[in-house]
Amino acid sequence: MNKLVFATNNLYKVREVQALIPEHIKLLSLKDIGCFEDIPETKETIEGNAIQKTEFIKNKYGFDCFADDTGLEVNALNGAPGVYSARYAGPQRNATDNMNLLLNNLKPSDSRSAQFKTVIALSINNNISTFTGICEGKITKEKHGDEGFGYDPIFKPLNYNQTFAEMNLALKNKIGHRGKAVKQLVDFLNSLYQEY
Ligand code: IMP
Repeated sequence: MNKLVFATNNLYKVREVQALIPEHIKLLSLKDIGCFEDIPETKETIEGNAIQKTEFIKNKYGFDCFADDTGLEVNALNGAPGVYSARYAGPQRNATDNMNLLLNNLKPSDSRSAQFKTVIALSINNNISTFTGICEGKITKEKHGDEGFGYDPIFKPLNYNQTFAEMNLALKNKIGHRGKAVKQLVDFLNSLYQEY
């Protein structure tokens, strides 16, 4: 069995990713490897943060691993909140506060176009690879739905009439940013493991 750490404490991300990982890969959590500390994410890009989290685990705990970093980029706000999506409304990292601030900041604007961007950084056999998934859409005027997490209640993907928070996990995974990045990760891992 090939073992790989998914470096996150976000149970929603674990659910989404686990659903796309083939059975021959066993995902280990941070708890499984005895990591109970905060993993630094201090870089100025989404890619930089994903690599930083992955390298932290590899260097300190010695496990092959991957980490995801995600940002919501809103066109009318010049790409904000972007890499600062988690603490947009302050250090409390609260999803409701973040959404309220975003809805407020977008009020004067005609354009509501936005995209989610996920970068997954994989550290395996001492090499780093990255995989990017993008999902374009629009910011709604109000929150809709209870599924998912983060900004899901205010993001409607292009060509859909529901927000991510009104979709089931399978549909979000099929069209969403993280699902797209995970599919590339899985293709890469499948070809890598075939070589052994
Ligand atoms: P991080 O990747 O965990 O640093 O996430 C950055 C911010 O984006 C946090 O506020 C998350 O709640 C939010 N976020 C990450 N992924 C998603 C998603 O799939 N849907 C909605 N919000 C997300």
